Amino acid sequence: MARIDNTVINDIRNKADIVDIVGSYIPLTKKGQDYLAVCPFHDDHSPSMHVSPNKQIYKCFSCNAAGNVFTFVQNYEDVSFVEAVKIVADKIGYQLLGGIQNYSNNKFNKEKEIMDIACKFYQNNLDTSLGLEAKKYLVARGITEDIIKKFQIGLSLDNKDVLSKLLVKKGYDNKTLVDIGLIYNSDNKEQDFFNRRIMFPLWDKDGNVVGFSGRIYRNEDLPKYVNSKESYLYKKGQTLYNYHNAKKYVRLSDSVIVVEGFMDAIRLVCSGIENVVALQGTAMTKEQIGLIKKLRCKVLLCLDNDEAGIKATIVNGELLKQENIDVNVIKLSGAKDPDEYILKFGIEAFKNVLNNPVAFLEFKLNSIKNGKNLNNNNDLAIYINEVLEALVKENDTILIDVTLKDLANKYNVDLSILRNKLNELRGVDDVRKELFLEKKVEKGVKKTSYDIACEKIIYYMLVDPKYIKEYQKRIGYFVNNLYRNIANYIVYYNDEVGKIEIADFISFLFDKKEEYDKILEITNQFNEKISDENFINYVRIINKKMDEDEIRRLKVKLKEELDVNKKIEIAAKITEIKKRSV
Ligand code: UTP
Ligand code: MN
Repeated sequence: MARIDNTVINDIRNKADIVDIVGSYIPLTKKGQDYLAVCPFHDDHSPSMHVSPNKQIYKCFSCNAAGNVFTFVQNYEDVSFVEAVKIVADKIGYQLLGGIQNYSNNKFNKEKEIMDIACKFYQNNLDTSLGLEAKKYLVARGITEDIIKKFQIGLSLDNKDVLSKLLVKKGYDNKTLVDIGLIYNSDNKEQDFFNRRIMFPLWDKDGNVVGFSGRIYRNEDLPKYVNSKESYLYKKGQTLYNYHNAKKYVRLSDSVIVVEGFMDAIRLVCSGIENVVALQGTAMTKEQIGLIKKLRCKVLLCLDNDEAGIKATIVNGELLKQENIDVNVIKLSGAKDPDEYILKFGIEAFKNVLNNPVAFLEFKLNSIKNGKNLNNNNDLAIYINEVLEALVKENDTILIDVTLKDLANKYNVDLSILRNKLNELRGVDDVRKELFLEKKVEKGVKKTSYDIACEKIIYYMLVDPKYIKEYQKRIGYFVNNLYRNIANYIVYYNDEVGKIEIADFISFLFDKKEEYDKILEITNQFNEKISDENFINYVRIINKKMDEDEIRRLKVKLKEELDVNKKIEIAAKITEIKKRSV
């Protein structure tokens, strides 16, 4: 991987003021030397984010999001680091003269190259005479030529080795081709994984082709869809179909529509509704929720209109609500899924439903009612209890109040009984939450004085390069991997660039997650004046620890050693270290 072009990136970082750039996204208020903002990276209500014009970094004291101007843009716009640099350059009118264009932070360049070839191969097949029948199928489903292009729809052939031959001829190794699921080996022959199917490329969140889904089109008795197998490149649970296109459109409506099938997503886009993503099934994973959360908009769940779809709406809705995402439901009737609905009733009818979404709680309460006979007291009691259970998870106090009163009136139950029961259920829920929190704290390991000394020394090294030399002279290396890596990077960076600016050093570390997080923690944790005396004290703590470790090692050696002379030697060494460390 090409090393990041420091001079260009630092130049842009230097010319861009973090207060201006962050301020172009969210409102900032000045407080003392810093600026305060409501943090856009978690569900913040009071301003927890500090933006420091002096250090040119930001930090949220609630969710710990932190970084420099590039990481802010990267996370806010959900783009790559390089994209973020380009955006910042653009904002300050900086002319990029190709300095970072050839920089790539993609790990799977070869794999992506292969996927692009396969994608073009499939697309081309559809345009040949072998693709006539498949085209006919697509036309019959109302998939226009434009949409075929936009979604890069293609065709895998009846012949079972055309793609394998092509890729092998281009010199790609068998293992990679098998690993990413394009071919398989059978009787020592390479065979194409996909055959006789209309091919839909699947993209990662940035729009790289990472897999395919193939649909039958000839009434064959085969599974309707076959997908690329899971691999290091393609993980179904980490992708949302059309996410890379949709993210550009969610800002306009402040919402994203979530559908089950990618044919549904394609139909919506065909009809001019672009803020849609497809799950490719009903279940929603943690990673998919993470992707949706990044869009910072409300979710309109529009899953299939069958039992599985309704169940999934409730499960997924609850998962989304736990992440404080605003959820509404688009309830279609008279058709199986959004695709069929639009074909049957037209886009205006769909837009009408879209503009009248059902609140998630209302949807849930209705579904609780399903299958119960509320004239039967037993059923009624179960129903009311289930409604109260649902209310425990609701935060909107007004909605809770209205629902309780409605329940009391409709079914002639004492309002105070409902309130008491709800509080009781809440109590149980609170205890559960508390236990969960305690567990989390237990997991966090307390820092030893040695850890703190290492961090302080790193801090000193960042603030004044004189301490970099001192570190090399007096310590040499940290035993702890993370601290050692950071110290090494600081030494390296200082040698290369000739000085250290914390905000620039952060850019340098952007692809090293652990080191990056630690540096931000360190620079935000300490703010004190530095002094030689304190530095020496930290060095002492570290050397003492190293001596103790050495003594422990020697004592083990002493026990195991059989040669008497050597035993005496080791014992003398131990005494010497002990003397030195006092
Ligand atoms: P659906 O059966 O609802 O697909 O499955 P659909 O969108 O209506 O497809 P058409 O209209 O018949 O072409 C929803 C999603 O579940 C996955 C696919 O990703 C599909 O988009 N699926 C479905 C499979 O992976 N394999 C299957 O055999 C069926
Ligand atoms: Mn369908």
